[in-house]
Amino acid sequence: MRLFLDTANLDEIKKVAAWGVLGGVTTNPTLVAKEGADFHRRIRDIAAVVDGPISAEVLATDASGMVREAEILATLAPNVVIKVPVGEAGLTAAAELSSRGIPTNVTLIFSANQALLAALSGATYVSPFVGRLDDISQDGMAVVRETVEVFRQGGFATQVIAASIRHPIHVLDAAKCGAHVATVPFKVLQVMLHHPLTDVGVAHFLADWEKAKAHLTSAES
Ligand code: E4P
Repeated sequence: MRLFLDTANLDEIKKVAAWGVLGGVTTNPTLVAKEGADFHRRIRDIAAVVDGPISAEVLATDASGMVREAEILATLAPNVVIKVPVGEAGLTAAAELSSRGIPTNVTLIFSANQALLAALSGATYVSPFVGRLDDISQDGMAVVRETVEVFRQGGFATQVIAASIRHPIHVLDAAKCGAHVATVPFKVLQVMLHHPLTDVGVAHFLADWEKAKAHLTSAES
């Protein structure tokens, strides 16, 4: 499973890119608005750091408006993926973009049936939102699991991005379900990376090394 970063924050993207684990980036209008940055410039800046897919979402609510926005977004960088919300307009736009070879991420997926329709429309990715379903007492990961199964059985090339990830257990569960990608907020990646016993272990090693220094030759210290 690949890891994407769910953010429009450049510092976070640069940090995770340096860790060598960054497979791509997903943005949405909320994440871009939080940065207070120019949308198109920010996508270009992200593309200067990230080789993998970068999802940029359209804001139009009708299919032709979505396609027009997508045409512009697709010129920003070769690895831009057009994010469209699932629905009549979204599927129509995804079908049109797919026929032109422009990759799409059909987002705001809350059921495997929505994911199936998106795959049939030619979507490159679908994004089931796990956390938002969990928030309303529904099993978000079940939608990921079911979608992966439906795509496998149907032989679809569409990839499943587990989205709306809230904590590290979501990431592991998405990997176990066979999701192709999990798109993860920076703070969740940090929690995944750190463990209190690792910190204690490093502190002990350093303290022991201080004690051992007395016995080292000058060349070793
Ligand atoms: C996915 O592409 C979305 O940007 C994101 O995962 C939404 O997550 P949220 O429910 O935390 O807003």
